[in-house]
Amino acid sequence: MKLSDNAVKVLEKRYLEKDENGNLLEDCDGMFRRVAKAIASADAAYTDEKGLAAIEQEFYDMMANLEFLPNSPTLMNAGRPLGQLSACFVLPVEDTMEGIFESIKNAALIHKSGGGTGFSFSRLRAKGSAVNSTGGVASGPISFMKVFNAATEAVKQGGTRRGANMGILRIDHPDIMEFISCKSDNSEITNFNLSVGITEDFMKAVEHNLEYELLDPKTKEPVAKLNAKEVFDIIVEMAWKNGEPGIIFLDRLNRDNVTPKLGEIESTNPCGEQPLLPYEACNLGSINLYNMMDDSHKGLDFEKLENTVRKAVRFLDNVIEVNKYPLPEIDKMTRGTRKIGLGVMGWADTLCALGLAYNSQAAIDLADKVMSFISDIAMKASQNLAELKGVFPFYEDSIYDQKGIKVRNATTTTIAPTGTLSLIAGVSSGIEPIFAISYIRNVMDNSELVEVNPVFKGAALSGNFYSEELMKKIARVGTVKNMNEVPVQVQEIFVTAHDVLPEWHVKMQAAFQRHTDNAVSKTVNLSHDATTDDVREVFTLAYKTQCKGVTIYRDGSRDLQVLNIGKVK
Ligand code: CDP
Repeated sequence: MKLSDNAVKVLEKRYLEKDENGNLLEDCDGMFRRVAKAIASADAAYTDEKGLAAIEQEFYDMMANLEFLPNSPTLMNAGRPLGQLSACFVLPVEDTMEGIFESIKNAALIHKSGGGTGFSFSRLRAKGSAVNSTGGVASGPISFMKVFNAATEAVKQGGTRRGANMGILRIDHPDIMEFISCKSDNSEITNFNLSVGITEDFMKAVEHNLEYELLDPKTKEPVAKLNAKEVFDIIVEMAWKNGEPGIIFLDRLNRDNVTPKLGEIESTNPCGEQPLLPYEACNLGSINLYNMMDDSHKGLDFEKLENTVRKAVRFLDNVIEVNKYPLPEIDKMTRGTRKIGLGVMGWADTLCALGLAYNSQAAIDLADKVMSFISDIAMKASQNLAELKGVFPFYEDSIYDQKGIKVRNATTTTIAPTGTLSLIAGVSSGIEPIFAISYIRNVMDNSELVEVNPVFKGAALSGNFYSEELMKKIARVGTVKNMNEVPVQVQEIFVTAHDVLPEWHVKMQAAFQRHTDNAVSKTVNLSHDATTDDVREVFTLAYKTQCKGVTIYRDGSRDLQVLNIGKVK
């Protein structure tokens, strides 16, 4: 086992099984054993005892060697009474009091089990419209979002992790302007990420500087008009101010909806990487690309990668089988489409180890090559599983039926943020650039401990320029750019999120998106002095390069908000 001290700490705090007094009942190795056994058990019907033991061992090895990890709820709950294994859910919000509060209750059940929820509030009638039963007026989507937020806040205390939500409103909803600025001071709706649901019609109207119509959510009759470019500019301005809202391209999510007969995709999970139908859940898992390199670290070992993808697809498909879903509706939908989301982590570390700068065409080309390979193999693996175990139950409602391709899973690939998984594996998260090359951690006795990116440390040691002092200096400055002590070639390769120009962030996102069924979690980092024009360019580039959405964060923008609030007080 190669887990870092930090990884062990995280696992002990939240993932390992404990008794009622908080004493650990398993260690990290025991956790991987528990998970492997629970997930392999889905194969009992397809193999004998010996075969089952072999599958269990394969699953165990893949996790213990940090080659592949399933999303956090699987690590936490597999083989335990709760048994809820998915990270991503989307719940419908109907335009009735019963529907709204049903959805809040269901979200609470999901949060309790470590899952995150996404909602579209677009079906709710606009603020000020009539309420037939009482003769009163409706309070509108934003006021109900605050109720969802408060419920999440309360559940947060008792759950396995902080409840996370995605809130989406269509660009043509009458309350869209209130939605766009509802988090402008960042003290509201704190348990939500917000995204505006953008349509192709709207983007065309922006391009040609035209007005577009706001529609009554129920009748779809036009109720007002707004200038598209002005609305787009306000979204840009708000995102510039504090990173919210993001945008998602609804028509693209539905263009790739493989089961359109089952309904429309209105929302994604909290971090945006998983578009889902109402009541659908998805379990994710990520391959650690850093451990997929060949022994000499000259390139990727594609044979190893292929084997890992095949095992990971089987693993994730088994998760659906043994999963205990929190609601019967979710059980039916999720077992019906059998969506899984296999992705990657440790991408930036891999590029550094291979001597490629994140912001280079060579890195983009490799991204295309690696992800198209993963996607191809994952598809083949799902087809093989279909031969053995059958196609997904709602197959006849899918585009695969029309194409005559028999698959076990309606989707197979998703790029998750891997917030905790990457920490457990000790690599850079998802497909993000390295965040810091080194940083200083204060330890108990007030001394400072400098933590260094292991790939950089290796490069510094072999290049003979490692010193504790230099690592501290890098931590303070935040980049090795223009740092004389570091060879120029190393400066060029070890770029951090803030060294990478926004357009390269988007290009990388687009490269992975080209070969991903679902979506890609990515934050485009901008420097503190970036302008609203820079944000507009990022949004436009993401649109033009076929991304499914985009989230930006301007360095220090949220911190500044907190400071401002402090000053006012
Ligand atoms: O690394 P880990 O498996 O813990 O999660 P992630 O890849 O950072 O996030 C994947 C998904 O898990 C998110 O998009 C959410 O749907 C969900 N999540 C959540 O519900 N609550 C959190 N605090 C973090 C993630």
